[in-house]
Amino acid sequence: MAQTETERPIDSEVEVDWPAYRSTRLRHPGRPLVVLPEKFADLEGPVFEADALEPHDDDLTRQHDGEPLGERIIVEGRVLDEGGRPIPDALVEIWQANAAGRYRHDGDRHPAPLDPNFDGAGRCLTDDDGRYRFVTMKPGAYPWGNHENAWRPAHIHFSLFGRLFTQRLVTQMYFPGDPLFEFDPIFQSVRDPRARELMVATFDLDLTQPEWALGYTWDIVLGRGVRATPLDLD
Ligand SMILES: [Fe+2]
Repeated sequence: MAQTETERPIDSEVEVDWPAYRSTRLRHPGRPLVVLPEKFADLEGPVFEADALEPHDDDLTRQHDGEPLGERIIVEGRVLDEGGRPIPDALVEIWQANAAGRYRHDGDRHPAPLDPNFDGAGRCLTDDDGRYRFVTMKPGAYPWGNHENAWRPAHIHFSLFGRLFTQRLVTQMYFPGDPLFEFDPIFQSVRDPRARELMVATFDLDLTQPEWALGYTWDIVLGRGVRATPLDLD
């Protein structure tokens, strides 16, 4: 009997040679990926401790004397393994454009203003419950020249080191309801629509703080299980 849509496992695989995302043609792996030996699944990865962090690393709105411009947000969630167990002491690093859609990077030529009070980089460690939390500004969409009139949906880049060698992920978090999803080859390179949803945060009124900031929750699953958060090709 054919599997129904809900029974079919979510496919978190990404098309690494994806013509719609032009630069993947030249830099995708040309050979089949090497499957890590089974024993690697138990191998501990690099361990990060609190001394890896600086004050305000988790609050990107307080890294300068003044307040950044834009929409202040809280992004919070849990880092989980394939079995849904929390991963404590995972290093979570983020980088993003400012509210105008501009990165503080020499290669960014988008004619939008830099913000003197916003660098767009942060990091934190997960707590005993696998929970991370950032205060930041909602990033703007930006053009990227991949094709005519190409704009990236608003996103925050995430890099994660879990506790095990195999718990490593670089990906992007998106915001719900973005009209650019259907036009974005990076988002669309995750072929299963249900896997794409795993990259989209949820607006959370309980996390939202009155008169101060909107809250978004986003859980991340490390590993290769059916709920695993997809990587990104960027
Ligand atoms: Fe980006």
